[in-house]
Amino acid sequence: MTRFLMGVLATLVIGVAFGVVAVYSGMFDVAADTPHSRFVYRMIETAREQSIERHARDLTVPANLADTERIRRGAGNYAAMCAECHLAPGKADSEIRMGLYPKPPDLTRHEEEAAADMAARHFWIIKHGIKASGMPAWSKGGIEVEAIWDLVAFIQKMPTLSAGQYVALVESSEGHSHGGLPGTAAMHPDDDHTPSPVHADSHGHSHSGGHEH
Ligand code: HEC
Repeated sequence: MTRFLMGVLATLVIGVAFGVVAVYSGMFDVAADTPHSRFVYRMIETAREQSIERHARDLTVPANLADTERIRRGAGNYAAMCAECHLAPGKADSEIRMGLYPKPPDLTRHEEEAAADMAARHFWIIKHGIKASGMPAWSKGGIEVEAIWDLVAFIQKMPTLSAGQYVALVESSEGHSHGGLPGTAAMHPDDDHTPSPVHADSHGHSHSGGHEH
């Protein structure tokens, strides 16, 4: 028995020592262009899925997510806040998305029915974000709860939209407006304009060879 306990203790000590060396030696590669090992990826993925499932379980989903007003309001905020990472009808990829790890899911591809089942999950993720992934906790920026549900409603609809329908919906929306954050206009000078849904690179952003990255 004592031998068994000694064995357990030795394993623990060695495990902790490895952990300390891994953390302090700098050998752990935090670069976003080096993927995790399959094992680490699985661990993170499982922790994430279990956490979301547990936390989103008791949310009450509003009955009117198919409401066209909700979808219309969600469209403008989606174009302004989300499309760069999660794409949109007519937007095949983006610089930021190509470089992110994990890669933000392409939200134009969710099946409509599956998306309806995922309403609570989506709400929770948009509100709280996901640690160390690039997915922000939008509630910290002051977005109101109803505006988050509008986004959820829009995400459910998006896979069925053509590029033209998407642009029309964004243009009919109030642009980037979701209440809650005083002084937002100062931070986002373009707020009273409807965001350009597809041509996100239209303000003189060019870097082909001009300078070193
Ligand atoms: C800077 C990039 C970025 C922006 C901007 C962003 N997201 Fe995300 N989002 C991510 C990443 C990365 C993930 C995946 C995180 C992970 O798998 O751990 C994610 C995950 C999600 C998911 C989970 C999908 C699923 O079912 O697994 C939803 C829903 C989502 N984002 C919605 C939004 C909405 C709505 C907005 C705008 C209000 C937004 N995101 C803005 C990067 C972003």
